[in-house]
Amino acid sequence: MKDFAQRTAVITGAASGIGLELAKRAAAEGMNLVLADIEEAKLAAAVQEIGIDAARILTKKVDVSREEEIAALADDAFARFGGVHLLCNNAGVGLTRVTWEHTTADWNWVLGVDLFSVIHGIQHFVPRMLKQAEGGHVVNTASAAGLTSTPGMAAYNVAKHGVVTLSETMYHELKAAEAKVGVSVLCPAWVPTGIHQSARNRQESFGTAKPAEGLSAAYDERMGQAVKAGRLTATDMANAVFEALKEDRFYVIPHRKLNHAVQLRMEDIMNLRNPTPLG
Ligand SMILES: NC(=O)c1ccc[n+]([C@@H]2O[C@H](COP(=O)([O-])OP(=O)(O)OC[C@H]3O[C@@H](n4cnc5c(N)ncnc54)[C@H](O)[C@@H]3O)[C@@H](O)[C@H]2O)c1
Repeated sequence: MKDFAQRTAVITGAASGIGLELAKRAAAEGMNLVLADIEEAKLAAAVQEIGIDAARILTKKVDVSREEEIAALADDAFARFGGVHLLCNNAGVGLTRVTWEHTTADWNWVLGVDLFSVIHGIQHFVPRMLKQAEGGHVVNTASAAGLTSTPGMAAYNVAKHGVVTLSETMYHELKAAEAKVGVSVLCPAWVPTGIHQSARNRQESFGTAKPAEGLSAAYDERMGQAVKAGRLTATDMANAVFEALKEDRFYVIPHRKLNHAVQLRMEDIMNLRNPTPLG
């Protein structure tokens, strides 16, 4: 994707962290913005921070885990701007627990927000993007957790592996269809954002997570520290996405140290070796 000015970007999870930085960068590239988030007040604050002309922006409170809300977002975006050229399926939540302490509500929450949101985004935007003469691009935010299996994050890992394979599958299909729509997958490692406070956005229908104890609490503490200590920023993630868009590159993996972990995992698989502990 080379042309951004006067094109339209839809970004979910745009009120905070990586989504907010993607929105700022898209605005700086001259794009119209459609910003969606479950946190309405923070979304309004984000609009102020971006400082974009009202004619170029649409905001909407959306729970991305609900298909009907993504469908309405697509209707509004196409009605307002006549097209959608960049779709960033970015909203996400994290949860740290050992696998056997994830409740069904935990699984439903994390898979709903982190995986089904992307599925619904593709269902409701891509068929319309394919009909546009200008084409477009989809960027799905997965994670290092989509490439490796860090302990303490089972639902998150499952969701993010899902996002990676969904994106890879769609890549092959779009090529086979000779479509003017492309897809990329963003796989960050630790980035200091609000992700470790995801419980703030847990919808009532999923109840409250039980407090983490023992090993779950230790993993939770470790995740919190790792996120806080992340050296690359949300701005770095947004810059990496736009660089990849300009190069028409599928994998967006800004933390290059991840290569080692991915290689180890592949070697484990190829040599039938038991999973090597992650450092
Ligand atoms: N920060 C990291 O270390 C890291 C690493 C890898 C991947 N990611 C991924 O990056 C993406 C962005 O997360 P972030 O790190 O910027 O965290 P963040 O918490 O700062 O931002 C996430 C945004 O998603 C929104 N959101 C949460 N639930 C929602 C829902 N049901 N509907 C709509 N919006 C919802 C939140 O309100 C928030 O604005 C997520 O998909 C996350 O999994 C983050």
